[in-house]
Amino acid sequence: MSRATVSAPSNIAFVKYWGARDRQRALPYHPSISMTLETCRSLTTVEVRDDAGGDEVWLAAEGGELAPAPAEFARRVLGHLDALRQELGLAGADAPRFRVATRNSFPAAAGLASSASGFAALACAVARALGRSPDPAELSLLARASGSGSAARSVLGGFVEWPADGDPAAPATQLAPAAHWPLVDLIAILDPGPKAVSSLEGHRRAPTSPHFAARLAAVPERLGEVRQAIRDRDLAALGPILERDAIELHAVAMTSEPPIFYWLPATLQVLAAVRELRREGIAAFSTMDAGANVHVICERGDEATVADRLAALSPVRRILHDRAGDGPRLEEGSLL
Ligand code: DP6
Repeated sequence: MSRATVSAPSNIAFVKYWGARDRQRALPYHPSISMTLETCRSLTTVEVRDDAGGDEVWLAAEGGELAPAPAEFARRVLGHLDALRQELGLAGADAPRFRVATRNSFPAAAGLASSASGFAALACAVARALGRSPDPAELSLLARASGSGSAARSVLGGFVEWPADGDPAAPATQLAPAAHWPLVDLIAILDPGPKAVSSLEGHRRAPTSPHFAARLAAVPERLGEVRQAIRDRDLAALGPILERDAIELHAVAMTSEPPIFYWLPATLQVLAAVRELRREGIAAFSTMDAGANVHVICERGDEATVADRLAALSPVRRILHDRAGDGPRLEEGSLL
């Protein structure tokens, strides 16, 4: 029996993917740029079955116990396994079947999307369990086959652009490794619940917003500025762009048909606190994915000050400290 255990990180986008030409294949309207994280990870073991059983999906608890995965989660994992067999040329009646067990390093109730890390880990673990060693470009396409575009970025470390050359079907590429710029991401957890509307549904609704075309028109210049700011390690240049891009994504969501409101009143409170920090001369900038929680990007030297300020806000339930990280890795041991 052959198996592999892989941990893969989540990522936070500076220019975000919002709106898909083809949601099943995760073909975006425009490229996105993200920073791969270090601490928020999914750990996944994949075992190639040597009996006649079908695919199985388990959630692994901290202590090692396994529980059947909830139906919706299992459905997405099983769908990705089918897509991976297809991509790897293994479709057919005698194609391999897998047992999968997974868990996240970050608290389950943190309200953080785990699909980027989860599907990146699944793609890498399936490939390794089959004895393959795909390069990062192939891994990116395998992760994207899950339907999660952000997973296509999580197979690479550091600062990542996807798709790389404007071709929506192209894989992600690395702009710079994590060591180039050890930026910090302080994640203020405001809402531990699952998001009310999935990103996939958000991608479907995005083009119905009158502001979608305006964001699309602004993205090419923004991508160039973000690449340059990363090259120069210039947070004063990067910060205002990443904050604006997140606000525009939410403006598109709020004006989609029907509208999607991911923010809570507490989200605005954190945004105001971050602006206040800037008035005091501290370079901290906010970004939000499809949810209410706020990621605050700053340099290492300001991490403690920014974290203290966020912790003092009453709706902040906890703060996760993360930073630029190196991408997926093979792990010892097994969750199965
Ligand atoms: C707002 O389709 O990758 O995070 O599968 O839920 O992770 P999930 O979403 P996906 O869309 C990502 C949407 C986003 C922006 C981003 O990460 O680029």
